Amino acid sequence: MANIAPACRNALKQVRSFHVSAVQNAEARLKTFSIYRWNPDKPDDKPTMQEYKVDLNKCGPMVLDALIKIKNEIDPSLTFRRSCREGICGSCAMNIGGTNTLACISKIDNDTSKKSKIYPLPHMYIVKDLVPDMSNFYAQYKSIQPWLQRDDNKKVGTQQYLQSVEDRKKLDGLYECILCACCSTSCPSYWWNGDKYLGPAVLMQAYRWIIDSRDTKTTDRLDKLRDPFSVYRCHTIMNCTRTCPKGLNPGKAISEIKKLLGSVIEKGKPGLDTTALHN
Ligand code: SF4
Ligand code: SF4
Ligand code: FES
Repeated sequence: MANIAPACRNALKQVRSFHVSAVQNAEARLKTFSIYRWNPDKPDDKPTMQEYKVDLNKCGPMVLDALIKIKNEIDPSLTFRRSCREGICGSCAMNIGGTNTLACISKIDNDTSKKSKIYPLPHMYIVKDLVPDMSNFYAQYKSIQPWLQRDDNKKVGTQQYLQSVEDRKKLDGLYECILCACCSTSCPSYWWNGDKYLGPAVLMQAYRWIIDSRDTKTTDRLDKLRDPFSVYRCHTIMNCTRTCPKGLNPGKAISEIKKLLGSVIEKGKPGLDTTALHN
């Protein structure tokens, strides 16, 4: 406030102290959070729902704010993942009020007469409390080889690969996926066959590389998906698309893979000569 005139500075101080005392004096708005608990150190104990009351006047607006407040001020043993707190890292994915979503961009329901119920992502093995075991999910992601592959065997990082504006547009709605797994864990087919069916998140990333005009391993990538389980367990129920907190459409990507597998459509040639700048 170095450049502010003294009169303005005093006025600002008064406004600020008014706001602080208004918040302090406001009647507590106690919201109950009912949270799934399971402790791996007591494996014989069944999971329970534990209730915590949080004053919404002293808490940020998002469910993640409430979880952090509970952990910091009430119960340090409560366990959950988070990192970016802005919907980018995907680590705070959980089931809030019956929907798979990201706690950091999920607003607390201000109706204090209703409990907010929070569970881990459904049908996953649990490490502790709200932390699911993502090992199978990441192994499946690895299995689709999510990186650019080409037949020309150029040393990685030594050449530019050209891509037309139209071809680049085909990646929109695919590359934005943050791999939070909200979609896969909302999919009934993934619940029952998660060991063999790749699920919507991983399949959407498979499609992202299949459709990339610079990638030349399209046939190999499709052939790896031709078994009865990897793709064909998708029955177009579309829970995945409905739940995606980033507004993406994995169900559509899967239907495009099915069309490519059935030769209903073809990838087509790149709009630009991908290697035009190569020596
Ligand atoms: S559309 Fe396919 S992937 Fe999406 S929820 Fe339905 S079965 Fe699962
Ligand atoms: S498609 Fe959406 S819900 Fe699925 S992993 Fe990506 S960001 Fe998450
Ligand atoms: S904390 Fe990163 S997406 Fe929520």
